[in-house]
Amino acid sequence: MKGGLQIWVTNNVYGVYIHQIFYFGTWFFLRLRRIIFASTNESKYNEILLHLRNFDIDIEYVRFKTVEIQSNNLEEIALKKSKEAYEKIGIPLIVEDTGLFIDSLKGFPGPYSSYILETIGNQGILDLLSNKANRFALFRSVVAYKDGNNNLTFSGETRGIISDHISKGGWGYDPIFIPEGSSITYAQQGITNKIGVSHRTHALNHFAEWYRGNYSI
Ligand code: IMP
Repeated sequence: MKGGLQIWVTNNVYGVYIHQIFYFGTWFFLRLRRIIFASTNESKYNEILLHLRNFDIDIEYVRFKTVEIQSNNLEEIALKKSKEAYEKIGIPLIVEDTGLFIDSLKGFPGPYSSYILETIGNQGILDLLSNKANRFALFRSVVAYKDGNNNLTFSGETRGIISDHISKGGWGYDPIFIPEGSSITYAQQGITNKIGVSHRTHALNHFAEWYRGNYSI
């Protein structure tokens, strides 16, 4: 009886060791799996890093500039960027492309949001809307994931309105975009509250769901 108990205890201790080795191995393997966010926009990275932590997905930033193709389609732009980045970097990565679509401007600036911000800026947008009663707009984000086997896109949207003045803080169009259900701009909300409702968050949720399912995190 005593001998029998001894064997049981010994087996159990080994069981604990095996479990620990297995646990550590899984943890180490997950640590090794890196995903890059390839972009020149560090503000986007900060938001992505913070949000994907909720899904235990760790993202590293690689500053990477792509040649943006002329297209009306955010998916096409994001897929092209992700292929170009993967050819250079060779590590699983995501890229992201955003457009601001303003109803009364028939969806302008849309895929040209970057160029328009650089040229006429937020004040230019407010000037274009000065005599318009309809200030509804849509922010749309497309995340493209690329690795050796997959090249997929995930999209997300947030509706809102364009404010009548430029608020302080934020980046890009944050100072003039008020998301639906709020009375203040993305810029005034600050990063944590913005992440709660942002177009990028919705796209990232779809990506994270797919990624976790596919790589069984
Ligand atoms: P991109 O081509 O995806 O980098 O973005 C198009 C334009 O939209 C750029 O001028 C960005 O600064 C701006 N933009 C992208 N995402 C956001 C955002 O979350 N808030 C405000 N502006 C953004």
